[in-house]
Amino acid sequence: MEKQRVLTGITTSGTPHLGNYVGAIKPAIESSRLDSMETFYFLADYHALVKCHEPERVNRSTLEIAATWLALGLDTERSLFYRQSDLPEIPELTWLLTCACAKGLMNRAHAYKAAVAENEAAGEDADLGISMGLFCYPVLMAADILMFNAHKVPVGRDQVQHLEMARDIAARFNHRYGEHFVLPEAVIDEHVATLPGTDGRKMSKSYDNTIGLWLPEKKLRKAIMRIKTNSQEPGEPKDPDSAPVYSVYAAFATRQQRADMRKAFADGIAWGEVKQQLFELINAELAEPRQRYEALMANPAEIQRELEAGAERARGIAGPFIERLRQAVGIRRLG
Ligand code: TRP
Repeated sequence: MEKQRVLTGITTSGTPHLGNYVGAIKPAIESSRLDSMETFYFLADYHALVKCHEPERVNRSTLEIAATWLALGLDTERSLFYRQSDLPEIPELTWLLTCACAKGLMNRAHAYKAAVAENEAAGEDADLGISMGLFCYPVLMAADILMFNAHKVPVGRDQVQHLEMARDIAARFNHRYGEHFVLPEAVIDEHVATLPGTDGRKMSKSYDNTIGLWLPEKKLRKAIMRIKTNSQEPGEPKDPDSAPVYSVYAAFATRQQRADMRKAFADGIAWGEVKQQLFELINAELAEPRQRYEALMANPAEIQRELEAGAERARGIAGPFIERLRQAVGIRRLG
């Protein structure tokens, strides 16, 4: 059977936190070990430019995210791991797709519409602060996906519309120029829980409630101790299902550990004790990769080499495909 091609991109505008790890990175690395799948994971640094205008930060984030995936054991022989900006074929395909994309389709994008609505509510010009990068973001994303004819694209719920747009653009292009593109599908993993942050809301950079994935031990412990709890005393039975600390614990624990912890809640375990056990659990999982992460961060040249090797392999696919697409649209040798 033909392997399923699975592809996803990570925008390089932040520092990885536990929510990214549980919700995206860990399941992606697990998928990369399955023989039934061919996986493509890339650093979406062109996407980062849409919202992040600090060059140092884009660069630093790219390094941190690359080091993270490598430290966590992504097998770059099996999986194609590359940096979007190392593939000139991506912006080239973006243009071909831009010309096959209805402007009206982009007008309907949630992110764009939200920005317009915010401006209008504030009595400002509708397009204030909205770049063409923001407006055309879904076309760039479609190019990422269609370049490798990915079947499945694991993403967060907020990205589902972008996948619909990628399908729409692909279908139009196919209709005009012949069957070149697979129509990709979004995959939303219902099993991976969204991890709560220190304030109990979804862990997210925009809420400022994250716990860094690579905090050194002491800081990790401190951050975990700050997770919000209620004022119940030791000895009082507690409800695990309304406690963010339990949700975080559950995301890292085995089935048996979860059952034991639920029992401990019923028996009135103290919040401080839950947090101590949570710290130990997370730290046990991350201690070894943390050492690899630190070693990689101290050796960016090695990361650069990995990414260059990945880009070379990716271009082995993208190069011939973009040539075929150029032919298809009429950009051909003369004579
Ligand atoms: N837009 C995605 C996000 O913000 C990142 C991304 C860029 C992506 N290109 C992609 C995800 C292609 C999947 C496929 O999460």
